Amino acid sequence: MTETLRLSVNGIQREITAAPETPLLYALRNDLHLKGTRFGCGSGQCGACFVLIDGHAAPACDTPLWAVAGKAITTIEGLGEHTLSRAFVDEQAAQCGFCTSGILISAAALLGRNSKPTETEVRAALDRNLCRCGSHNRMVRAVLRAAQAER
Ligand code: FES
Ligand code: FES
Repeated sequence: MTETLRLSVNGIQREITAAPETPLLYALRNDLHLKGTRFGCGSGQCGACFVLIDGHAAPACDTPLWAVAGKAITTIEGLGEHTLSRAFVDEQAAQCGFCTSGILISAAALLGRNSKPTETEVRAALDRNLCRCGSHNRMVRAVLRAAQAER
């Protein structure tokens, strides 16, 4: 049965009419046309669909709409001109780019709670994000570069 749910997405109040158990990812991509959040595994295993929920990186594929009502959702589009974006370009930290938005979300969550992470902390923060292209080392360097730029 469908309901009208109110979501805060990238600082804007949105209404979605859907079954409450619908994955957040479907609402973002299909209803709100925010296509930067990717569909990878669909089961919470790859990180491609990560968004920030109240500042924490979480899989939108595995999060029902009822669970995010009243919470602040930030997608890759909502990060805007983040220092991380520049650092990822400078480090050439992507190949196909499919995983990149989820990785940027995990990195933004990390820098939101720890502005001076060590390399070990960056690696731990990105641990849930898979990259089939093997770009992890460059991504770690990019996150460290972004953290340095913000000091
Ligand atoms: S698509 Fe959501 S974690 Fe893989
Ligand atoms: S850059 Fe291709 S999957 Fe990560």
